[in-house]
Order: sequence, then C-alpha cells, then structure tokens
Amino acid sequence: TLCADAEQASVYAAHKIADIIKDRQNAGKQAVLGLATGITPISIYKELVRLHKNESLSFQNVITFNLDEYYPICPNNDQSYTYFMHNYLFGQIDIAPQNIHIPHTDCSLEEVDDYCKDYEAKIRSYGGLDLQLLGIGRNGHIGFNEPGSRFDSITRLVELHELTRRDAETSFGSLDNVPRQAISVGIDTICQAKKILLVALGARKSEIIHKALNTSISEDLPASFLQNFPQVEYVLDSDAAALI
Ligand code: GLP
Repeated sequence: TLCADAEQASVYAAHKIADIIKDRQNAGKQAVLGLATGITPISIYKELVRLHKNESLSFQNVITFNLDEYYPICPNNDQSYTYFMHNYLFGQIDIAPQNIHIPHTDCSLEEVDDYCKDYEAKIRSYGGLDLQLLGIGRNGHIGFNEPGSRFDSITRLVELHELTRRDAETSFGSLDNVPRQAISVGIDTICQAKKILLVALGARKSEIIHKALNTSISEDLPASFLQNFPQVEYVLDSDAAALI
C-alpha cells in the first residue's frame, strides 16, 4: 500500500490494527498483536492512543507480544523497549498489565534459553498472532533477526550487527553503551502471524525496501523471506517506495 507521506501511512496502519481489535471484540474474542519498536511505529501508536481517547477504541481484549528487547537492559532504562512501549502506548490505553508481554532481559545467561522457550510457547498458547506489526532495519533485519538468521528461527538470544548498533548509537549516547545482544522472536514466529504489516517510512529505507521486494530470497536479507507469504502487506510512504 502506497501512502503519500509518513503521516498517512501511520494513520492507515493504525486503522488496520484498530479494525482487527474491533472485529475480534465483535466476535467476543481476544486480539493477539505482535508489536514493534523504533521510530517507525511511534506515529502509529499515537493514532491508536487518539482512537482510544476520542473514539473509545478499547484495548481490554488485546494481548500483546513485543518482537524484541536489548540484552541485557534494565526495564526502566529509557532506551529499553519496555520503557518505549509504556511511554508511547501502554501507559495511555486501557490494556490490562497482565496482557502485555515484552522480553525481559534482566535474566542471567543461564536462564535466557528457558526464558526464550517460554516466551515462544506463550505466543503459541494464544493460538499465534492475529497481526504482527513490523519495521525494517537498514540491513534488512526484522525484529532483531539480523542477516544470517535462519528462516526457521524462533525466540532466542541474538548478536547485534555493527550497522544495527551504529543506528542506535545516538540514542544510547555512545557506541559502547549499545548492548551487543538482544532477545528476538524468530523469523518463523513472525511468519506464523495471520497478518503482517511491514511499515517503512522515509528515504533512508528506500534501498532496503527495493532489495527486500526484488532480490531473490536469502538469509542474508531476512525481510526477503516475507516474499513467500501472502498475508504480508507493505505500508510505504512515497520516499521509502521511491526505488521499487
Ligand atoms: C530496531 C528494532 C526493529 C526496527 C528497526 C528499525 O532494530 N529492533 O524492530 O524495525 O530498529 O527502526 P526504525 O523504525 O527506528 O528505523
């Protein structure tokens, strides 16, 4: 879906999410959402908060699973994705705290494998994700599934690539402060979602969007694997779509 600008793309994506929440509500069911962080979803969450406040969109039937979190990081560090999600979304809507899932990365290295297995099992125990919201990294990563990630990967501890750490450098103050690892749901976890919205905004994403859509599918470019899945919808502004 091509949108004129970032604002329109964000409103479009937010309304897609709201429609799924309402459809599930009308059917008396929970909506299970996979959520993303980064600059891209900020305006989407802003619109969802507006729909909650002005158009009484309720999140009481919503269960969320975030894609990823730096490892290790303290949840009240303002660079943590836990902090981000509470700041931009959860703190401003009526979601029940027990329905929110974000990988907790203050667990020890010995505990991390079991923790990841539990996180994956929990997603599947809800019957999988009704919708996965995705951004894309400039090296083609989805979640923190960096180039080289296996297509059958599930939730696990991953090493972050140099470009990913550099892109996070400004917000962490220095490259040394950027964690070297993260917990991320896997590519298989993402692709099991019933619907996937991949949102890319701005000229800095145009090259990777061109490659993700047009190059042959390869583990060197994790987002290319999405070409296999008809439930993926790409929501792009005109700058991100410029090279397609
Ligand atoms: C991080 C996140 C990804 C996100 C990517 C792009 O690496 N783990 O989930 O898609 O950044 O972020 P941005 O939207 O800020 O460009």
